[in-house]
Amino acid sequence: MSDLSFIRQKYLDYMVSLGHAAVPSAALVPENDPTTLFTSAGMQSMIPYFFGQAHPEGQRVTDSQKCFRADDIEEVGDNRHTTFFEMLGNWSFGDYFKKEQITFVFNFLTRELKLDPHKLYVSCFAGNPELGIDRDDEAATTWQKLFTEVGIDAKIVTDPTQGLQDGRIFFYGEKKNWWSRSGVPANMPEGEPGGPDSEVFYDFGEQKTALADHFHAVDGPCHINCDCGRFLEIGNSVFMQYQKTSQGFVPLAQANIDFGGGLERILAAYQEQPDVFRTAAFWPLIEKIQSFSQYKYDDVEKQKYFRIIADHMKAAVMLMADGVVPASKEQGYVLRRLLRRALRQAAYLDIKQETLVELVPIVVAMYQDAYPALVAQEATISQVLAAEQQKFSKSLHKGLQEFGKMVADKQELTAAIAFKLYESFGFPFEISLEEAQVRGMQIQAGIKEQYQQLKTAHADASRTVSKNTFKSGLADHGDTVVKYHTTTHLLHAALRQVLGESVEQKGSNITADRLRFDFSFNRALTAAEKQQVEELINTWIKADLLVDKQTLPKEEALKSGAIALFVERYPSIVNVYSIGANPNGTKSGVDFISREFCSGPHVAHTGVIGEIVLDKEKAVADGVRRIYALQKSV
Ligand code: SER
Repeated sequence: MSDLSFIRQKYLDYMVSLGHAAVPSAALVPENDPTTLFTSAGMQSMIPYFFGQAHPEGQRVTDSQKCFRADDIEEVGDNRHTTFFEMLGNWSFGDYFKKEQITFVFNFLTRELKLDPHKLYVSCFAGNPELGIDRDDEAATTWQKLFTEVGIDAKIVTDPTQGLQDGRIFFYGEKKNWWSRSGVPANMPEGEPGGPDSEVFYDFGEQKTALADHFHAVDGPCHINCDCGRFLEIGNSVFMQYQKTSQGFVPLAQANIDFGGGLERILAAYQEQPDVFRTAAFWPLIEKIQSFSQYKYDDVEKQKYFRIIADHMKAAVMLMADGVVPASKEQGYVLRRLLRRALRQAAYLDIKQETLVELVPIVVAMYQDAYPALVAQEATISQVLAAEQQKFSKSLHKGLQEFGKMVADKQELTAAIAFKLYESFGFPFEISLEEAQVRGMQIQAGIKEQYQQLKTAHADASRTVSKNTFKSGLADHGDTVVKYHTTTHLLHAALRQVLGESVEQKGSNITADRLRFDFSFNRALTAAEKQQVEELINTWIKADLLVDKQTLPKEEALKSGAIALFVERYPSIVNVYSIGANPNGTKSGVDFISREFCSGPHVAHTGVIGEIVLDKEKAVADGVRRIYALQKSV
């Protein structure tokens, strides 16, 4: 077993021994959550439970959640940034709180993984009178006591900007020690939950770090949160206990724990290896890339390219495994960008683009124990990747020629040129930038912003983020979104009645304006079929059917006829939503028109939804159709 698998399993086992139920990772593309493109933190799927909704597995839950951070694509290249990672998580939904949590973290790191406690440093929230939230002395003294028990005199430091000062426990403000999905308190929309947090750092020591590619930041003494690379944050306990309201912060009805531990970072600490690319989470990929190239990873000039390829290819495989296909917008666009960026780096290592597909089995081998579905997906992923590579290779070739022509007599790359190249030849902006750098050209000041403006002005299909994405977190879980969510189930059921039961949901996305639904079917719907589907849905809405939620063991839920999108992804106890008896009675002996595994939320009865119209329907991939539905305007 690799150290990567070992740590994941060790953590889950430890949390289970403390009474937590282990649940599977949610998908990288959040289901029925219109607010983000990707799952970027373990807690995203847990939000309803912070507010008191009962988790089907109880008040203590643990998992290792796959996460993807598109914002970090450009950061990849140093020794620690990655776009895909796993977050070890443990949750208390109104059960244990701060003292227990800090003890769990300390014991896991020092007893289970046997990390040297002398190398652990921690941060706690300094408090803010304007928010009415006090300094977190309870967290600080809990840590202090634990360190004392292992013979370490842990000094508490209140002003970390002055450096380490022989301290071990440091107070920071909300920029560092506050967590919510939207960041610091000022950025949180009303309704959003959040709270102070306490982070653990691992000390790799100054010397080792200097040998890697970090230098101490020049603008002040080193402290645990500075960027010099000596300290690496490996875990974060969030005390999820407040909600932002128009009156300021109020306590949630229950105090919750949200712990997130970076699996790859804990692994780095465990292997005493400040470069995550040299750990078990990446090394098999780096070795494979080395085998294609005349260059070695040790070659400092080339390291960045190895890292980008390894990171992007791994992330691409994991995204594809969760149903993302290369496309010109949203998740598909991000995937395309990752793949093209990885493929582009191949040239810098003198590697043929075609060979990168050989990294797919390496990723599968690294992750198949935790995500067994990867094995069956390997062939398809490789095919999609190879097709995308060929497409890219053509557009790159054409684009490079055009680039050459367009900049032949110019000294400077402008946003206008980059945009023209993108629009006419699909030549990615990042590659224009890289190409200009390679040719020693100047780059127009503010090119990124101007390029973005051009793109927005054209309002073209390449927009990566749908209009409502990222706007408001929970606020979007408004009535309309909930209505569309229930409509999604009706649409799924109607499609299966009209087109046959081979139709399966492949994805969905909801905004306040419409719902989008992907399903397996290998041709366009006829006008008559589309009309039939629409009429069925509206009949069910008019019939004001009851929407009923049950919590059942997974096996029983499957037996009851409930449809599960990804069976292996559900915990052993699940929520099932059923929508009342079918007035058309097309299926004898079946008393529901829709029954699905789902975490909700849904309307209580369908009458509140109002009339629905189906909008455009098209192909999105081989054998996958996409259809839009919206509320009829009155
Ligand atoms: N939500 C916190 C984080 O993402 C801890 O899980 O860091």
